[in-house]
Amino acid sequence: MKQKPIGVFDSGVGGLTILRALRRALPHEKLIYFGDTANVPYGGKSKKAVTQLSLQVARFLQSQGVKLIVVACNTASAQALGTLRKQLTVPVLGVIEPGAQAAIAATRNHKIAVLGTQGTVESQAYVKAIQKRCKNARVFQQACPLFVPLAEEGYAQHPATQLIAQDYLTPVRESGADTVILGCTHYPILKDVIAQTMGPRVQLVDSADTLAATVAAFLKEHHLAATARGSVKLYASDAPDKFTRAAQKLLGQKTVRATLKKV
Ligand code: DGL
Repeated sequence: MKQKPIGVFDSGVGGLTILRALRRALPHEKLIYFGDTANVPYGGKSKKAVTQLSLQVARFLQSQGVKLIVVACNTASAQALGTLRKQLTVPVLGVIEPGAQAAIAATRNHKIAVLGTQGTVESQAYVKAIQKRCKNARVFQQACPLFVPLAEEGYAQHPATQLIAQDYLTPVRESGADTVILGCTHYPILKDVIAQTMGPRVQLVDSADTLAATVAAFLKEHHLAATARGSVKLYASDAPDKFTRAAQKLLGQKTVRATLKKV
């Protein structure tokens, strides 16, 4: 059981920011990543559609004999985690709780802003997770739907991204939050622009490292940590070559290659 792989998925390249953190924290694990590039973005879809798509992908990962599934997508974590846990036989971990935890640890004025997709914002998942742990926290949310295609297209340094960031983040600056959760796994790809726009007094919380620590603790607690040599296997449901280029850049690994897999 210990040597079985861990399944990780997102709608596209965003979850690779989580995969990168998992690689660093858990170098002995075999990681299978699925980018649902045929269906990206998840962020504006209904809860029903996101749940259906997430289930399809998670069932595929389960069929690969994984010991654990990591939902490296905030939208799917916010909308489908309960169903995934009910329908699957392997344990499932999401990104919302670790993100909320990291933000509470970071804030000093208890004003936290959440940047996310429409689906994540509407689900109120972060608001609930933060206020469950910290009753006096004030949570401000901002949907940033255009950040996802900009990240998918590799527009991290493009002037268009700066303009859009100004537009989305002006009300976030005005909210007085001292901590901003990058509540979509695509957003760390645009971290430099977001940091410049928010200014030096605001801390950005990227839940990747906290999630990796949560996964490590889970494996240890359940005696599931692998001891063999780690590896990465990538699948994409469409355009695997484009996905491969993005993955090579993000992971800094020229040898990784995505296989096309329709689910
Ligand atoms: N990266 C995903 C998230 O964390 C989904 C983005 C999208 O597909 O809209 O929410």
